[in-house]
Amino acid sequence: MCSHHGRGHYAVFLQMLGEMGLTTSHPGHDKGFREEIMAGRWAVAVAVAFLAVAVGLFLIPSPIDPEPYIFEGPPPSLEGPLAVNTRLQRGRQLFAGQLRGPESFTADQDGNLYTGTVDGKLWRIHQDTLTFITQMGQNIPECGSSMDYEPVCGRPHGVRLDGSGQLIVADSYLGLFRVDPRNGEKALLLSNKQGCDGIPFAFLNGLELSRNGTIFFTDSSSRWGRRHVKLEVIETNHLGRLLSYEPETGRVQTLLDSLYMPNGIALSPDEDFIMMAETSIGRILRYWLKGPQAGTKDILMSNMPGYPDNIRLSDRGTFLVGITTIRFRGRVMPPFLDLIGPYPAVKRFMTKLVPLSLYNMLLPKYGLVLELGPNAEVLDSLHDPNGTLTWAISDVFQHGGRYYLGSTDLPFLPVLEQWS
Ligand SMILES: *[C@@H]1O[C@H](CO)[C@@H](O)[C@H](O)[C@H]1NC(C)=O
Ligand SMILES: *[C@@H]1O[C@H](CO)[C@@H](O)[C@H](O)[C@H]1NC(C)=O
Repeated sequence: MCSHHGRGHYAVFLQMLGEMGLTTSHPGHDKGFREEIMAGRWAVAVAVAFLAVAVGLFLIPSPIDPEPYIFEGPPPSLEGPLAVNTRLQRGRQLFAGQLRGPESFTADQDGNLYTGTVDGKLWRIHQDTLTFITQMGQNIPECGSSMDYEPVCGRPHGVRLDGSGQLIVADSYLGLFRVDPRNGEKALLLSNKQGCDGIPFAFLNGLELSRNGTIFFTDSSSRWGRRHVKLEVIETNHLGRLLSYEPETGRVQTLLDSLYMPNGIALSPDEDFIMMAETSIGRILRYWLKGPQAGTKDILMSNMPGYPDNIRLSDRGTFLVGITTIRFRGRVMPPFLDLIGPYPAVKRFMTKLVPLSLYNMLLPKYGLVLELGPNAEVLDSLHDPNGTLTWAISDVFQHGGRYYLGSTDLPFLPVLEQWS
């Protein structure tokens, strides 16, 4: 149908060219007329070139297979607890140039902090000292130089400590691991290849441990890996899953599927529900573990002011959400994904042409953190409107009175001394 339509245009165009050709082959009588002929031929050449490019682009398959997605409306206005402020600017950057993309954090009782970086490495932080624990994949010199090496080097996302002081790590490309933080010994618990229900994982992301040792985690997509996250977001598919893994038995279970890029998860204080971010559509879901609604989900927040990443419980019993990209201000245009969301053809065409790195231009350098109540009502927000301290926040981890702010790519670790 589509290609038939294309041929129709092509035939008309050829006819046009033919008519132009007749004109240009008409015998000329003076110099001016001959110049006109030359100009006409030149125009034909340009037209043919354009046609070739257009037909070429028409024939190249698009990397993505998008469905339309339309937000409920424009993002919420920035008032009340969402009002713009500069409270997120009152912090410091630690380990500048040494830690790149500390995505998620956990801590032990001795005050050590743990995190993983873009080069596939796991780190322990104690006060001002950074100690290498292990490399999740192969430790080759190219690790961290380009996203192309991530599937080889690994890329730790969610990290937590279990009851016996072992680190549990969700490596985006490789799988779930148990790592001994003292000597870096690691054991693969569940590989991405193995996956669940016959579908391999492509993008492990959020992680949470329950008190009985059950590991809850998300696979953001079964199609796109982390290095193709932009395609994942532009495509706006729903190929993500929330899963659980029992280390005792090795049993892995899909709790929810058909999710829109499920990302960070947080257990409620009583472990009666999990709060979960669906990044690509700016939504937060609740999945009930206990009570009459156990096994079901409800939508707590949609049409968010930005795209949520990790969710963490604070010591006040609130949920802290890092916003990876805001939705209310574009660098060039109004929020880009709002604009193109309804038009799969535009998305398909655009991803044929535009290199992924160029989309960074559209991302505003704006830091935003939300504090939510148990029903995801917005209680407070911290802003850094021009990225003075940080932006593209992946995690907000409270520890020892401080707040550590994660990111997927920035070359430092921002920290707030207090929530003020
Ligand atoms: C472990 O705890 C989680 C969360 O409270 C619960 O959903 C799960 O059923 C528990 N698993 C076992 C084997 O008791
Ligand atoms: C960002 O905003 C602060 C005020 O909040 C200002 O002092 C600073 O100069 C700004 N930086 C840039 C790069 O615009």
